[in-house]
Amino acid sequence: MSNIPQIIIDTDPGQDDAAAILMAFGLDKLNKINLLALSCVAGNVPLKYTQKNARIICDWAKRSDLPVYAGAVKPLAKALLTAEEVHGKTGLDGVVLHEPQTPLQNEHAAIFLAQTLLAAEKNSITLVPIGPLTNLALAFLLYPDCVAGVKEIVIMGGTFFEAGNVTPNADFNFFVDPLAAQIVLNSGANIRIVPLDVTHKALATEERMQKLRDLPNENGKRVADILQSYGRFDTQQFGLNGGPLHDPCAVAAAVRPELFSYKEVFVAVDTSFGVCEGASSVDWHGKSGKTPNAYWCYAVDDNAFFDYFTQAIAALP
Ligand code: RIB
Ligand code: CA
Repeated sequence: MSNIPQIIIDTDPGQDDAAAILMAFGLDKLNKINLLALSCVAGNVPLKYTQKNARIICDWAKRSDLPVYAGAVKPLAKALLTAEEVHGKTGLDGVVLHEPQTPLQNEHAAIFLAQTLLAAEKNSITLVPIGPLTNLALAFLLYPDCVAGVKEIVIMGGTFFEAGNVTPNADFNFFVDPLAAQIVLNSGANIRIVPLDVTHKALATEERMQKLRDLPNENGKRVADILQSYGRFDTQQFGLNGGPLHDPCAVAAAVRPELFSYKEVFVAVDTSFGVCEGASSVDWHGKSGKTPNAYWCYAVDDNAFFDYFTQAIAALP
């Protein structure tokens, strides 16, 4: 068994997802990870776009061999909320898109996830969900034993010390499907959560995007163009000095956990439909008496993170 992380990314591309997936392809090229597959979920844009975008991104990385699966078209128990105002109607504003060559696999993503985990060595596969958690929840509900194949789940989602980006209390991924997030938190898997608390400190500043533009490969400029478009919404809405790289932070945390700081805490997601819908309740001081179920990332070495991100993008065609 290889000692590098065996990774499946569950994703709703989405501009920051695209940056994360390209980062993963670069890390795969550098033999830092073995990227096994992409499973797609409805989120930033409807599933018909997220699955198409995932295949376009594989084409950009010249990796049409990578299996891509389509999964849930909507959350478990509520209507789908999308974020075209951030990512554009197609989900990949900022660059020219083409009809993807990379094929879509026939199997539903949730079935793929469950069967892959059931067949895997115990504790061998790292799941990196960077969209709503519907596919993982479905897999765990249909085949609870598949959790044994999970080494860890590194989730981009949630917020505690930082205000929400979709409601005052919730991040987009947990708000779109709070029930799915709660099911994953209850799964018993090893979980690390990369919330807005951290991702709002990992910003694609002009200086950092210039370093991407200065790379000699086509994907350096492409990622900079995507992040240029992506960053305009969050800089205006939250007064940030660049687009927060939510999803690339989750990939980095899965591969180089030492770039982040964590606290082991009990986390629950509000699955009611009230003012705190989708909010992540983080028992920071152990007041609940409940056993911790996740490591909560609360700090990042943002310069080291961007150096690593840039190294990964530099490894692409
Ligand atoms: O809250 C940020 C998350 O929601 C990111 O994964 C972004 O892509 C959106 O899915
Ligand atoms: Ca995402």
